[in-house]
Amino acid sequence: MNNDLASIVRSKVDIVDIIGERIPLIAKGKNFFGVCPFHDDSNPSMCVSREKQIYTCFSCHATGNVYTFLMNYEHLEFKEALKYLGDKVGVDVSGVKISKKSSKYDKAYEAYSLALKYFQNNLSSTIGKEAKHYLKSRKIDEDLIKEFEIGLSLNKRNDLITLLTKKGYELSLLNNIGLAIDDYDTYIDRIMFPLYDITGKVVGFSGRIYKDSEKSKYVNTKETEIFKKGELLYHFHIAKEECRLKKSVIVMEGFMDVIRASSIGIKNTVALMGTALTKEQLNLLKRLSSNIILCLDGDDPGVHATLNIGEMLLKQGIEVKVISLPNPDDPDTFILTNGKEKFLGLVDAAINFSDFKIQKLKESIDFKSDEGIAEYINAVLKELINIDDPIRIEVVLKKLAKEFDLEYNTLEMRLNSFKKDEAKPKEKVIIAPKINVKKKDKYAKAVEQLLYYMLNNDWVISLVEKEKLILPNEVDRALCNEIIYYYKQNGFINVADFYTYVTDKKDILVFLNEILASNYNEKPTKEELTLYFQVIREYSIREEIKRLTKMMKKEVDPLEQAKIVEKIRKLRIGE
Ligand code: UTP
Ligand code: MN
Repeated sequence: MNNDLASIVRSKVDIVDIIGERIPLIAKGKNFFGVCPFHDDSNPSMCVSREKQIYTCFSCHATGNVYTFLMNYEHLEFKEALKYLGDKVGVDVSGVKISKKSSKYDKAYEAYSLALKYFQNNLSSTIGKEAKHYLKSRKIDEDLIKEFEIGLSLNKRNDLITLLTKKGYELSLLNNIGLAIDDYDTYIDRIMFPLYDITGKVVGFSGRIYKDSEKSKYVNTKETEIFKKGELLYHFHIAKEECRLKKSVIVMEGFMDVIRASSIGIKNTVALMGTALTKEQLNLLKRLSSNIILCLDGDDPGVHATLNIGEMLLKQGIEVKVISLPNPDDPDTFILTNGKEKFLGLVDAAINFSDFKIQKLKESIDFKSDEGIAEYINAVLKELINIDDPIRIEVVLKKLAKEFDLEYNTLEMRLNSFKKDEAKPKEKVIIAPKINVKKKDKYAKAVEQLLYYMLNNDWVISLVEKEKLILPNEVDRALCNEIIYYYKQNGFINVADFYTYVTDKKDILVFLNEILASNYNEKPTKEELTLYFQVIREYSIREEIKRLTKMMKKEVDPLEQAKIVEKIRKLRIGE
């Protein structure tokens, strides 16, 4: 392991920047908090410490330094993370050799990328004239074709599979990965859009008809191990950077919408590839931004989907914004007919989901009847329960009072009674460290606390050495020894680098995570330490007595037995 290089690179980056580029962080005191990407959550339970250069999730206990974060978040090997960071901060990492690991999907990726080239060639050759013409009629120009790697499948039954089998790809593989169905080409005479995974690798295709046809509009690659439509968002790998800059992500239905938006420079967009939002897709969205804007089609299914998705997110404490398009526009057609500025105007005018819901309600209610009016008012008040902005609530109540000539107080009282009915605490505050406490005995607690102090204070390490303290349990002892060894090598302790140092030692790493995730005080007093030493020593003695007692019982030689008894006696009186 390239430890020296690793610590040089690490000392030049700030973990707060690296994590902050990937998930939104809020400063709070000395630390930064964000929604942990390693478990299902909507609370900011991940704490990033600039001082210590480590992160810790109070909820799922994910912990580590900037390398472990990148390794887990971007699915990188240690060396890949080191190279990435080294390049970023200008440290020469050319000596770090990454052995290309072969994954069991390599063949599939290769086949997809060959298919991609093949489709692209078709479109640019004379055979693609009609398809080109269609794309042109839809205002998809050469630049967009190139950028989105759009291609064409031919009106032949086995053109692609012949090509690929000639290159040595088994038919069974091509069937498995969806490029063939029953040994024939899956895509016949369609405009081909590659679909990418979150790292930007092609993992499937969607093919669209481009002539009058009875066939279904799009055909997608079937679900495979590497292509699960519900776990992808179209354009994620490009949107990543852009969402961070724009501090928002715009969610659309189709990739044509995303392509159109991109053509006018709006690139913080992703497509669901349909109207459903899965849990996995939501997690991906949260990785892009905490400011999620829905911009689905303006037709009835689009409005329904907006209501469903908005509701689903609201239940998780996320209030999305909504861009309403006129029926039956989708972002693509809206932009084509109205232009960039008008669309940007809609983005700026995005409303909160609750307001969108109220607006839709208003359109469906008969305001001529008293019942209709009451139904409307009650529904609006119920919506207000979800809103934790008192000013917004007051504005809405005042408007309602004026519009229907009611007393403000009556409305407020009614709202409060609704609130009482609901009475569900949904605090969106930074949570206090909540540790899943496994019941730990006094000894285990003392050891963890002591090791934690050692990791943060040089003088505690020296003291442990001076006292010749030996920890009886193997993992405890191993970590303790590693800390001491690290300290001797470097002359000081640095938790973030120590992390890299033990990356390969699985047992120790797990234990280290546990210790760091428990939130202990930083600075111990000497008295405290003396107490810990005492607890640990007493435990060691008890364990040793247990061991000797067992041994004595097994011993047959009375002389040996007597020796052991003497040892036990000495231990008991503390000699
Ligand atoms: P849309 O029908 O809204 O497509 O479906 P679109 O973006 O407007 O496409 P054009 O403008 O007609 O070409 C939205 C998304 O739903 C998925 C596709 O991923 C599409 O981008 N879809 C739609 C399918 O998978 N299959 C279909 O038959 C239709
Ligand atoms: Mn559409």
